[in-house]
Amino acid sequence: MHGIANTAQAQAWNGYEGAHWAANQDRWNAVNGGFDRPLLDTAALRPGEHVLDVGCGAGATTRLAARAVGPGRALGLDLSGPMLERARARAADEGIANVSFEHGDAQVHPLAPDAFDVAISRFGIMFFTDPVAAFTNIARALRPGGRIVFLSAAAPESTQWLGAFGALDDILPMRGFGAPGGPGMFSLADADTATGLLTAAGFHDARAARVQAYGTWGRDAEDAARFMLDSGPGRHLLEQADTATRALARTRLTERLRRHETPDGLRLHGTGWLLTARRQA
Ligand SMILES: C[S@@+](CC[C@H](N)C(=O)[O-])C[C@H]1O[C@@H](n2cnc3c(N)ncnc32)[C@H](O)[C@@H]1O
Repeated sequence: MHGIANTAQAQAWNGYEGAHWAANQDRWNAVNGGFDRPLLDTAALRPGEHVLDVGCGAGATTRLAARAVGPGRALGLDLSGPMLERARARAADEGIANVSFEHGDAQVHPLAPDAFDVAISRFGIMFFTDPVAAFTNIARALRPGGRIVFLSAAAPESTQWLGAFGALDDILPMRGFGAPGGPGMFSLADADTATGLLTAAGFHDARAARVQAYGTWGRDAEDAARFMLDSGPGRHLLEQADTATRALARTRLTERLRRHETPDGLRLHGTGWLLTARRQA
């Protein structure tokens, strides 16, 4: 891997968080897969195009893109060694030959200039310490007139799974949780901030559209609460609590999620911004 600018993120995604996502890639795809259609429809990929998937993780969207653009190619770029290992293995299992993966920090990774028609991302593009530098680096890799299409997390109050954490706000340090600003999963939660950053990075015609999709978080409320508290923001909050508070948080979250149990599992909607822009032609 070349240089890293986002060292804290690199540690997280090569440590516990990355291992959790890698081990649970199918569960995370069940959570986020509802966003694939809006992402790919908007990207309007055509056969022969070259696609860069930024923060591709275990490569679900990279594989979808590769299938859409063959004989063109899809490249997945990610900071996380464990997730890329899964991405490569899954692509090989599925016999997808026009896909490859690189280990690197999208903010500084030396991408070939003018090499891609489209850059996409499913929630892998909101963790930069210097988003303008990162988007500038991505813009350089696009051909003139090339497009960027990606999903970023919207604010917690419009997202059911994050809203469920409201059940814990008198026992866990929720202050500032989900406040827009970076770096972190809510750094692009404000659409005007996100489009402004894209414009500052040299993109034009930057737009944001709100999208909502249901995801399956587990078999039932217990299973989903465990999953939510074992990773990401839930784990971060729990780490700051004592043993008794942790147990109480698990019970409370489980009870709060009970209303979302369905015959098809625990279903919650998530809300994101679908951001689009173009590099100057
Ligand atoms: C929320 S996960 C999403 C993964 C994948 N796109 C998906 O939908 O399953 C965020 C991903 O962004 C990656 N990431 C975070 N910061 C990055 C950076 N600076 N450069 C490249 N990848 C990054 C993480 O390693 C992680 O795989």
